[in-house]
Amino acid sequence: MRLIAANWKMHKTVSETQEYISKFLKFVEHPESREILLCPPFTSLYVAGKLLEGTGVKLGAQNCFYEKEGAFTGEISLPMLKEIGCSYVIVGHSERRHIFGESDETINRKLVACLEEGIRPILCVGEKLEDREAGMTFKVVETQIRLALSGIEEHIDRIDIAYEPVWAIGTGVPATPEDAVAVHRFIKELIKDLNPKSEGKTRILYGGSVKPGNASEFMKHSEIEGLLVGGASLDPESFAKIVYSF
Ligand code: PGA
Repeated sequence: MRLIAANWKMHKTVSETQEYISKFLKFVEHPESREILLCPPFTSLYVAGKLLEGTGVKLGAQNCFYEKEGAFTGEISLPMLKEIGCSYVIVGHSERRHIFGESDETINRKLVACLEEGIRPILCVGEKLEDREAGMTFKVVETQIRLALSGIEEHIDRIDIAYEPVWAIGTGVPATPEDAVAVHRFIKELIKDLNPKSEGKTRILYGGSVKPGNASEFMKHSEIEGLLVGGASLDPESFAKIVYSF
């Protein structure tokens, strides 16, 4: 089933979250025909989890730490997220990599921890503009995936991957569906090489300036098995249009 995920980033207080969800749920019909995921900030997760109970809409976090507990000031563990109903975590988002300096090694440890805890990670990968211009897109994506999945290749079927070109995130300039499809095909081949049994189980999502006006252009390609939506997910009606764009 295709996955349409909202990444709210650092937006919405608890009361704004309540307001959003009560509006959004009015638009949700047949949630069983697609997987719908909301990833609010940490402070809103508990209340969002309560409001989403029994609706079929899933809850995810935007980040996590890999240790279960301990002296890690400011961090949030996977058992904490699991107890409040998170079934997904976004790992290695480009803003985590480039603003907060998250390394491939850290991302790998987070993925290992998600698998141990039984939370499904969405691993984000994508090239910067200078990589694309230098013809390095496939190489960069391949390196990110190989390092992220190092040592856990046998569990790739329990991970989804979002291809998000860095130059398309929050810029209003999405990749063309054709360029996205080319990278999605490449990722599919790569993960098939890493683990043939993962075929058909790891979904490849596209992210980067997805809007209600362009979502169907992506979703008409079978290689695009979902979307990770930032800015356009902040309004419940706009996100609902994207969810039902296919
Ligand atoms: P955007 O963000 O839709 O605002 O481009 C996507 C993302 O960062 O996941």
